[in-house]
Amino acid sequence: MPAIAVIGGTGVYDPHLLEDPREERVSTAYGEIKVFCGQWRGKEVAFLPRHGTAHSVPPHRINYRANLAGLKKLGVRFILATAAVGSLNPQMKPGEFVVLDQFLDFTRQRPSTFFDGGPEGVVHVDFTQPYCPDLRDLLVRAARTLRFPVHERGTYVCTEGPRFETPAEIKMFQHLGGDLVGMTGVPEVVLAREAEICYASVALVTNFAAGIAPYRLSHEEVVAMMKAKEKELRQLLWQAVYWIDATRVCPICHRAVAGPVTGGEPK
Ligand code: HPA
Repeated sequence: MPAIAVIGGTGVYDPHLLEDPREERVSTAYGEIKVFCGQWRGKEVAFLPRHGTAHSVPPHRINYRANLAGLKKLGVRFILATAAVGSLNPQMKPGEFVVLDQFLDFTRQRPSTFFDGGPEGVVHVDFTQPYCPDLRDLLVRAARTLRFPVHERGTYVCTEGPRFETPAEIKMFQHLGGDLVGMTGVPEVVLAREAEICYASVALVTNFAAGIAPYRLSHEEVVAMMKAKEKELRQLLWQAVYWIDATRVCPICHRAVAGPVTGGEPK
């Protein structure tokens, strides 16, 4: 059973990221998912391209709940995700990596919780540290070790998409403290925490956002930057995967719903 998964965003579709990938189908209460399982340096790892292998699923149609429920069912306890992002922050330039540490949620119509009332009950999960601090640390260390340009923190604004933003929206996001904008990070990060899975995301700045870039935005531009940085992104991910101790119990993520241990052994 894979304890570690990589969720690939735009430009990261190829299951041959893994040695000997085999396709598995996992059925969940939210639908079936297709995921690739294979080895990486002796570790069993799952790979899920969130847009499908041919980028056929747009951000607002991704079945985030099925993806996270499926990975949970496979036994995954650690997820590293990738994200292509536009930058609102002049310090965060195209071609640079950012390890996300906060988000602002501007999505509108996505089922974004496993706790919808009913049998699952009502649960309010703490999001003071939305991304797993431990996995974030591994990603930052991996980038530094490989000498890739990296920002240790960044606030990700998630929009509904699939259109790009207006310059007025980008200005508003800047005023609110956003650094980066993308369309897929939420509710993925939320569902991972609700599923008690450690989750961190490494963003690659593909462009300056609308109104900052002195030209019109295109998906082709985003894909071209992802392609140019594909090798670095892979190296970064695999270095971090290599360092994950899959036996670790994370006090923040692995007990997000169950609550902190206040004494004695966890049940
Ligand atoms: N906006 C939204 N999503 C994106 C962008 C952007 O500028 N670049 C890459 N993904």
